[in-house]
Amino acid sequence: MTASGTGPSAPDPGVSLMYGALARWWPLISPAEVYEDDARSTAELFALAERPVRDVLELGSGGGHLAHHLRERWTMTLVDLAPEMLAVSRALNPDVEHLLGDMRELRLGRTFDAVLVHDAIDYMTTLDDLAAAFRTAYAHCRPGGVAAFFPDHVADTFEPGTDCGGSDAPDGSGARYLEWSHPPGPGETTVTTEYTFTLRAADGTVELAHEAHRTGLFAVADWQRLLGDAGFEVVTVREEGGADRTLFAGRRPRA
Ligand SMILES: C[S@@+](CC[C@H](N)C(=O)[O-])C[C@H]1O[C@@H](n2cnc3c(N)ncnc32)[C@H](O)[C@@H]1O
Repeated sequence: MTASGTGPSAPDPGVSLMYGALARWWPLISPAEVYEDDARSTAELFALAERPVRDVLELGSGGGHLAHHLRERWTMTLVDLAPEMLAVSRALNPDVEHLLGDMRELRLGRTFDAVLVHDAIDYMTTLDDLAAAFRTAYAHCRPGGVAAFFPDHVADTFEPGTDCGGSDAPDGSGARYLEWSHPPGPGETTVTTEYTFTLRAADGTVELAHEAHRTGLFAVADWQRLLGDAGFEVVTVREEGGADRTLFAGRRPRA
């Protein structure tokens, strides 16, 4: 058995264990099947566009698990900060364009009918970073198009908690994780979440890993204000029941 991990400080997502050295485990840690519901929510948000949606830019596309459910319907371009996650996504979505980039500063010089930022938006830990991601989305969105954002939490409804998951592969390998989030300190715009991983190789070797992630936690009013500042008309969607979360769409007005 081996163990690896970081201390309590928050990692730069660009050098994170989960999205770096452990990226090859992503298909077992967070299997693509669990993204089907979010693919449906994505389609509902894209329906807010005032133009037909044919091509989509996803920022922070990770292992391409959500994109896997979208690529049949739309032409996807996938961007992520972590080369290891792009490699995982390329294996799953070999016919899709993949690019290395940071959603805070990317400028491709191309526009799309829709821009998608799924849970990667959580890695915007300051209002300045969040605003920069919105400017990037706007710069790549055609007039009449839409940008869709899927934060895991907003400050208005956040509750600290624990979660677990993972799956097994036919070759006998498997991954399990425990996720444990802590309440933010007074006035803080971030949440710290401890992740522990138990990773079993096909030969039975077990590796343990730990990493703390710091993610952004912003009020709905801040989301709405910054999306508006970027130029978007804002639609706020409160999903209740299973997901119980707040999603945002930004419609780029026709010129
Ligand atoms: C939870 S994973 C995304 C998983 C993805 N939703 C999927 O379907 O597989 C978060 C991703 O955000 C990426 N990320 C974090 N900060 C980023 C940034 N500034 N620009 C681009 N990608 C970023 C990380 O590299 C990581 O791959």
